[in-house]
Amino acid sequence: MFHSQYPAELTAFFDGLWQDYITVAPLAARIVKLFAAEGESVINDHVAFRTMSHSAIRLSVLESILTGLGYEPYDYFIFEQKKLQAKAYRHARLPDAPKVFLSELQCEELPDSARELLYSRAAEIPDQGIEDQRVFWRGPMWTALDEQEYAALGQISEYAAWLLTMGLRVNHFTVSVNHLQRWANLQQLNGWLKSNGIALNDTGGEIKGNREVLLEQSATMADWGWYRFSSGKQAKLPTCFYEFALRYKGRDGVLFDSFVEGNANTIFTSTDHRRR
Ligand code: NI
Repeated sequence: MFHSQYPAELTAFFDGLWQDYITVAPLAARIVKLFAAEGESVINDHVAFRTMSHSAIRLSVLESILTGLGYEPYDYFIFEQKKLQAKAYRHARLPDAPKVFLSELQCEELPDSARELLYSRAAEIPDQGIEDQRVFWRGPMWTALDEQEYAALGQISEYAAWLLTMGLRVNHFTVSVNHLQRWANLQQLNGWLKSNGIALNDTGGEIKGNREVLLEQSATMADWGWYRFSSGKQAKLPTCFYEFALRYKGRDGVLFDSFVEGNANTIFTSTDHRRR
């Protein structure tokens, strides 16, 4: 899945992310097997993370780990309705390395109850190990939520409820459809995925974006995993999803390598099974 010519530290980073990811989202491993059965090998377009402001794992802290791995920021986004900011990173020397999309919940913009809940959990994040790249798959570093907290937070911000239950870990990997041989377009790929029983996010249509914005994306709905609430009661909650991205060349003949706010805005709902 990952180029063997990567520096060891970068290979370890993506291996760590992938192992954690397929543990909570075995759906992704299943899809990679389906691709392999077609003779396709997967190249990753990007990986995406969610985090929160005013915390030891805020975007600027995580950014310093990424820059240590050779990544550079190259684009910035705002999602006003979801109260997020996000930055895109690419590797300075390895153009084929997956891009990184890092989004951050602006906790200060949330209603008091949600903000206080986020700040109380953020205060529990230990000092140790958070400068280490392994923090990117450390999961929750705080006390579990109770059922009421989870339900109330989810009403305000599905993103926040996901973050506090799943913690810091990859939210999705993304297959580069440009590197696949068998499917000429995303529509065909989606048809094949669905014929294999895979549910896609259909918020705003299965394909987000179009040729005009130079980026088309689809995503599965998130897989499910058991979560133990602070009461000890367990429930299956959405974990992570798998995304598929097809990029187009702009008028300059250069393949578009950034992100589109409108696309990302609907992709975020892949962890929100209530939308279905
Ligand atoms: Ni993505």
